[in-house]
Amino acid sequence: MAEPIIETSHLTKSFKGFKAVDDISLRVEAESIHALIGANGAGKTTCFNLLTKFLRPSDGTIHFKGRDITSLKPDRVARLGMVRSFQISAVFGQLTVLENVKLALQRHRGESYDFWSSVRRLDHLRGRAMELLADVGLTDAADTPAAELPYGRKRALELATTLALDPEVMLLDEPMAGMGTEDVGRIADLIRSVSRGRTVLMVEHNLGVVAELCDRITVLARGGVLVEGDYATVSRDERVIESYIGGAQHA
Ligand SMILES: Nc1ncnc2c1ncn2[C@@H]1O[C@H](COP(=O)(O)OP(=O)(O)OP(=O)(O)O)[C@@H](O)[C@H]1O
Ligand SMILES: [Mg+2]
Repeated sequence: MAEPIIETSHLTKSFKGFKAVDDISLRVEAESIHALIGANGAGKTTCFNLLTKFLRPSDGTIHFKGRDITSLKPDRVARLGMVRSFQISAVFGQLTVLENVKLALQRHRGESYDFWSSVRRLDHLRGRAMELLADVGLTDAADTPAAELPYGRKRALELATTLALDPEVMLLDEPMAGMGTEDVGRIADLIRSVSRGRTVLMVEHNLGVVAELCDRITVLARGGVLVEGDYATVSRDERVIESYIGGAQHA
């Protein structure tokens, strides 16, 4: 088996005795698209928060690229190359789409800046920013204030600002949430194209999207790993059918 880019061992998070994540040993292969699925409350978001160090584990370890990151701070982990989409995707509504991407690029390069005066001084980043906008299909919206974008295109902008950081691993928590069918297809294509040469770990409730996009799927239930495998394996597992559909009814 190839060396995993993310590996957790016995990862556990308790909230006052309640184990939201319970003894999860997860391996994510480099350059794969890996899904975390499971009913509401299964522990998916908590798992993301542990990986990006927004939460401190109660037990267990996390390795990233062979290095123990269990006690690192969130910004260190982001700088090592594991980035969660909302982490940097605080999109500024009053700035244009292009300005938002230029700002994200500038922050990535660690150039010092004074927010308002510098927005106009980012012309040297225009070329790269326009490439990123082309990657996510937003070339025509470059000069539109971000607040005026329809929902699906705002998510595309979020992806562009995430890509501006050039992360090795992107964590996407329900990237399709709240989208209509048309947008779902577009964002799925987008995720596939931006995943080239990167690793994507995503939480997604839309099983059609998971089936189409993901190389590997880990199904969580009550904080633990229920089943892991490719879509064919996971989707015919009785426990998954029961737990997932049973849980979804409470959504
Ligand atoms: N900060 C917290 N304090 C106490 N309990 C928490 C906290 N965060 C999460 N939980 C609990 O941990 C469990 C797992 O929550 P989590 O948000 O990880 O689920 P999820 O799989 O992302 O669910 P969803 O599909 O609804 O997003 C839930 O029972 C939740 O109520
Ligand atoms: Mg969640």
